[in-house]
Amino acid sequence: MPEDTATTAIRPPSQGANARRVFVKSYGCQMNAYDATRMTDVLAPQGFVETQDVSQADLIILNTCHIREHASEKVFSELGKLRLLKQERAVQGEETMIAVAGCVAQAEGRELLRRQNAIDLVVGPQSYHRLPDLIDRARQTPGVVDTDFPAEDKFDHLTAPAPEKIRERGVSAFVTVQEGCDKFCTFCVVPYTRGAEVSRPVSQIVEEVSRLAQSGVREVSLLGQNVNAYHGEGPDGATWSLGRLAYRLAEIPGIARIRYMTSHPNDLDEELIAAHRDLPAMMPFLHLPVQSGSDRILAAMNRKHTAASYLQLIEKLRAARPDLALSSDFIVGFPGESEADFQATLDLVTQVNFASSYFFKYSARPGTGAATMEDQVAEEVKVERLARLQKLVDDQRRAFNAATVGRTLPVLFEKTGRHPGQIGGKTPYLQAVHCDGPADLIGSIVDVTIIESGPNSLHGRLASEQKEQPG
Ligand code: 5AD
Ligand code: SF4
Repeated sequence: MPEDTATTAIRPPSQGANARRVFVKSYGCQMNAYDATRMTDVLAPQGFVETQDVSQADLIILNTCHIREHASEKVFSELGKLRLLKQERAVQGEETMIAVAGCVAQAEGRELLRRQNAIDLVVGPQSYHRLPDLIDRARQTPGVVDTDFPAEDKFDHLTAPAPEKIRERGVSAFVTVQEGCDKFCTFCVVPYTRGAEVSRPVSQIVEEVSRLAQSGVREVSLLGQNVNAYHGEGPDGATWSLGRLAYRLAEIPGIARIRYMTSHPNDLDEELIAAHRDLPAMMPFLHLPVQSGSDRILAAMNRKHTAASYLQLIEKLRAARPDLALSSDFIVGFPGESEADFQATLDLVTQVNFASSYFFKYSARPGTGAATMEDQVAEEVKVERLARLQKLVDDQRRAFNAATVGRTLPVLFEKTGRHPGQIGGKTPYLQAVHCDGPADLIGSIVDVTIIESGPNSLHGRLASEQKEQPG
């Protein structure tokens, strides 16, 4: 999954002079980006409006990610700067609260306060619905920590976004359907920071997606740390799989595109494959991390699948949906990875031919199984292998994008482009496309002929536009 850093969108300060401003900086995966929006939604009734200017913020939330090495160090360096800002604002008589949320908050808890006393509040991902109360408490007595896994369902208590907020956020929306993971891959902190798998009930998700659709959302990306392990309670009392949920969501008027991430190969069941076959709304792009092509390393990673079983699964998926494009995550330099193991990864990449991929150097995460394994791979070996994998994956991505040149693809237009008169959107394969066109096409799915493939996006022409005839 991409590891972008993003701040949430600007909101106009519309709530009058008493409005308090909140700045959220979100690191890591899309689930954090989704959580950031839910945090601002739950704070809106308290009079908080969002700002993108951190120096204006009365409340600063760092929504942290713990998946990479040095994650906590980055947070501390950011907090050092925020501490100075807090002091400067205090001189001007302005109060600033600093909250640390996300997986570093969950993993480090009270330790964060010990190392940086400018923090007012530490809040784990399971407690965001309690934010208003926690902020009030931290205002009275700074240093509040809430990293519990509460019995109540936080989604029952998170405020639904107002229709105008949905519209501001655009026509493509994220919806968390599942949280946590029971897989315990030996490199991964997620089962520790996000806890056991929990699925939201179907009715709650249907309600949220319907509300989004009523405000113009056309595409939903269903999120979960292990999203295809989804097993939510259905309205019929039975347990529904992700595939069954997809069939139901595809019935919601306005919803034209469904995506989901991130999946584990072992949880990709027949119902989900059938959904790819049957539902036009199911987008033909799947992020299905394999991590390594070596069975020895996959076993040491506790992935519980082999390279062959992964390839078989891809075959099944492609039989169901022949144009399915795939992406994956890879870890290079896992403890014990030999040159032959790495070669097996390159072979698998060549065999599958991914549309895009993300690759990471293994970094030991304290508390995980692999952290104490012997035979850690030397840094220079990791760097060299990463470069080789990167080259292969980049070539595949470029070839995939180049192959769309000349094709006409349905594009969901999401926003105005960088240049005046341009609009931008996505193909079914999640490729960014720009073309000249009127802004009123935003929210529509329109045929676009791809004329050029650049390093980061495609350039196209509205298929309805007639080419000028010579003479
Ligand atoms: N080292 C390197 N990469 C990791 N990932 C998760 N944990 C680690 C780690 N300790 C990668 C995996 C995962 C992605 C989100 O991050 O490839 O799929
Ligand atoms: Fe981490 Fe593995 Fe769970 Fe993915 S499936 S979140 S890599 S433990």
